[in-house]
Amino acid sequence: MSTHNLNKASVLVVGAGIMGMGIAQVAAQAGHAVSVYDTRADAVPLAKQKLADSLAALVAKGKMTAEAVQALLARITPVAQLSDAAHVSLVVEAIVENLAVKRSLFQEIEGLVSEQCVLATNTSSISVTAIANGLKHPQRLVGMHFFNPVPLMKLVEVVSGLQTDANVAQAIFDLAGAWGKTAVYARSTPGFIVNRIARPFYAESLGLLQEQAARPEQLDALLRGVGFRMGPCELMDLIGHDTNFSVTQSVFEANFFDRRFTPSLVQRELVDGGLLGRKTGRGFYSYPEGAPALPVTQVVALPANTQWVVHGSGAVADALASAVTLHVQGKAASRATSSAWVGIEVAGLQLHQTDGRPAWQVAQALGLKNVAVFDELPTVAGGTLAFATAGADDAAHTAAAVLQALGFAPVQVTDAPGLVVARTLAMLVNEAADAVLHGVCTTDGANAAMKLGVNYPAGPFDWLARMGRTRVVSVLHALDACYRGERYRVSPWLQRGDAA
Ligand code: NAI
Repeated sequence: MSTHNLNKASVLVVGAGIMGMGIAQVAAQAGHAVSVYDTRADAVPLAKQKLADSLAALVAKGKMTAEAVQALLARITPVAQLSDAAHVSLVVEAIVENLAVKRSLFQEIEGLVSEQCVLATNTSSISVTAIANGLKHPQRLVGMHFFNPVPLMKLVEVVSGLQTDANVAQAIFDLAGAWGKTAVYARSTPGFIVNRIARPFYAESLGLLQEQAARPEQLDALLRGVGFRMGPCELMDLIGHDTNFSVTQSVFEANFFDRRFTPSLVQRELVDGGLLGRKTGRGFYSYPEGAPALPVTQVVALPANTQWVVHGSGAVADALASAVTLHVQGKAASRATSSAWVGIEVAGLQLHQTDGRPAWQVAQALGLKNVAVFDELPTVAGGTLAFATAGADDAAHTAAAVLQALGFAPVQVTDAPGLVVARTLAMLVNEAADAVLHGVCTTDGANAAMKLGVNYPAGPFDWLARMGRTRVVSVLHALDACYRGERYRVSPWLQRGDAA
């Protein structure tokens, strides 16, 4: 197929739901003439009126001029039947998420439009290869996966199926850029990029909840501590457990029930009980109250003239040493840079940064009793920091006192491998590594997709650089050693020597 330029294309959007109308708005805003079709006769006029109301609110706030709104709305034309839009050079489909219905729609459209017309689907979970099956010209079908709400979310995954023409994918990539979006290429595989790589963000917290390692409000606070805008539990409550569970289930099924993607019993029970989150008034939390405040951690006074010794070298050891200077001593901490472990030793207690092993294992290996492990340091000032101890209450009290003195908000969790944040980040990295290994996306593509598609504070390969491959792999190995099964197997991409 010849090179396409869609910058002036007239567009047909099929489906006037939340996504279709968002896509129509963005296309019209970029100057395209947009026809919109929906099987429900009143859907398009109603959706257009709703759009007009929301744009009027932007005019009232001074964010758009009345003229610009009028011009935008004038470019959107409801059509009563598909044949009224046979002249378009781009179709974007945003109808019900059903393979058979999408296939038959595109087959019907192929009979109406010109041979050059590009066909794009906004499917979030169906194989683009499968939708194209049965078309006369399957090479012109491509995924153009927007995120909700379309006018605000910057990411578009441009998804190629087996037969998609590279020129078609590039034309959609360029068009998304012209519409003010950041496009990322993806291969049509279950979950594409974002919905696949994001699975462990939920799965790790659900696993920790199942083994009663921490409460939802603690997990949320801990992940907010490294910059996530929302923790996994509050986010699942917002998305709706039914929706989140069905995405997890579809990725699981589409991967031939690879146990790596096994859905959670904790979440299924919420779905079965109708506790779907904000929309039903209850999920992990009750609404409108939301998450309860974190309980206050008991802290003991540390003995006077306590020695603070920072062990190991690297960014975390340096951060601990700075925290001692800043919050505790007003002078440099003692350093034991040649120690094989990273952490801090205070009042007879060794606090190790997690390498994945639970505290009891570290204590056993060292032949010590007084050992604690702590999680990935928070990046947010005063952020929460999880820790666990090998046993004695005294050690927990001292660990909490030490971490609080260093300016963190300590949260004690049970002695689970990789604690909370390190294990979640390691698993996000691992999934992203597999996506790269399988040619789904590039490392840059994965970083951009996760930052723009789900507002992550950093991309998975940024975290890989920050944590280092050795620690990521060591956390995964410790998880695998504890849980066995497929979930924690290390991606071959990470096992290669050339990974960061
Ligand atoms: P929606 O239910 O809000 O809207 C779908 C619209 O399509 C409805 O107005 C319905 O009447 C219409 N429709 C159904 N079958 C049709 C047909 N054969 N021909 C014409 N119109 C038809 O759904 P939503 O949320 O807008 O999703 C649409 C698509 O976008 C789905 O494929 C979904 O997976 C995908 N998507 C949804 C996202 C979301 O967050 N809601 C995010 C990204 C993609």
